[in-house]
Amino acid sequence: MFLKKELAQYIASHPKSEEMWKRSTDVLAGGVSHNIRNLNLPLIGAFPPFIKEGHGSTVKDIDNITYDDYWGAHYAMITGYSNPTIQEKIEHQLENTWHLGTVLEYQVLMAERLISDNKSLEHIRFCTSGTESAMYATRLARAHTGRKKVAKAKFGWHGAADTLFYDVRVPLTGKETRGILDDKEAGVISININDQTVIEVLNQHKNELAAVIVEPVLGGGGGFPVEPEFLKLLREETERHDIVLIFDEIITGYRFCNSLYQNELGVYPDLTTMGKIIGGGFPIGAIGGRNDIVEQANPTIPDRVWIGGGTFSSYPLSMIAGLEILEILKASTDHYHRINTLGDSLITNLNEFFTEENLAYIATGHKSLVTLHSISQVMESPEPAEIVHYGDKKKEAFTQLALLNRKITGMHGIGALSFAHSEDQIKDLQQVIQTITPEISKEI
Ligand SMILES: Cc1ncc(COP(=O)(O)O)c(C=O)c1O
Repeated sequence: MFLKKELAQYIASHPKSEEMWKRSTDVLAGGVSHNIRNLNLPLIGAFPPFIKEGHGSTVKDIDNITYDDYWGAHYAMITGYSNPTIQEKIEHQLENTWHLGTVLEYQVLMAERLISDNKSLEHIRFCTSGTESAMYATRLARAHTGRKKVAKAKFGWHGAADTLFYDVRVPLTGKETRGILDDKEAGVISININDQTVIEVLNQHKNELAAVIVEPVLGGGGGFPVEPEFLKLLREETERHDIVLIFDEIITGYRFCNSLYQNELGVYPDLTTMGKIIGGGFPIGAIGGRNDIVEQANPTIPDRVWIGGGTFSSYPLSMIAGLEILEILKASTDHYHRINTLGDSLITNLNEFFTEENLAYIATGHKSLVTLHSISQVMESPEPAEIVHYGDKKKEAFTQLALLNRKITGMHGIGALSFAHSEDQIKDLQQVIQTITPEISKEI
């Protein structure tokens, strides 16, 4: 009954989004341009709300409903939406054109800034997306080592490019989609995070492995932190075998502190991929790291490695917004501390509640990244693979729907806290989750 009522309430209150969803599915494959943006709602006969604006911690849809938002545009908007100082810089640039396709002063300033903030970055290349940066990082590693294979973490999402779209979702079957090479042909090997057997795997493939790529916290894969000890082990073992270690910091970079997360961890990779936050809300990707690896891309050297070539690479507005956000983040120690603490306690409080109430839900994540898993059975201290394996898409969709009915938007259950969120909002989020999850659990 609860679910039926929730569905009816949602549909009745979103007439404009319903109409737009119908039009959307007529012209766009599956109605979307990014697969997760349907929030799985079509699975239960619903549709996503069409969002038209965002300010601070809230967004508003075309039915004029305002929500507390925890998605933060794929975790990119750490200061919240429509940051006024970024807006001002962008408006100024708009008077002087918004694309040039030339070398830019801003990209130099941005590269200088990233390099000065981060010990492992000696040289940088900008592109337009995180996907591209992961693709180019593996190419640079292959060229540098003369080896062909790349190891990635199971459930690690580095974008859907042909290079690394393997063993991302359950059931893990290797390649994630028709239309790409089998994992053996593509030379991709999957590793388990936080598992000592990686020593054996790297040793076994040491003569073929160009790179190991890993996110310090698996983001899209389920919000699973990688143990610092495991990252140190990866560092030691890759160094031992001259394998390039790549950290994908597209989510974690500038998320927990005013620099890449590796600086807090004290583990330094050879290459780092970056994106999201550092673009200040504009499209960006970056590859940075050891000079001898990145500088292979210098177009004036013989036998250079071709990376880049995007019409919009180092897009002026991305560089301008990026510089501004990095400036803002420099003065945001208190904000970081606040949202990191709030996120950690939200995860703890929710899990205590789920355990007390014996509910098949689990919160994972790290600091301001919070993922809510709707699962099909109660589990005690499950491993990441079990959590993902028992993920229940229909339940997730109903959870999302019930959150939307209570004016909360998120993705992957919740998403990420921003500097714009108040403590009261987080309390309210927790309260709402504690209200809806027992009701949903009675029926699913
Ligand atoms: C860890 C990680 N790497 C790479 C990507 C791909 O980045 P983009 O969506 O900018 O192409 C993402 C995007 O979600 C990501 O979370």
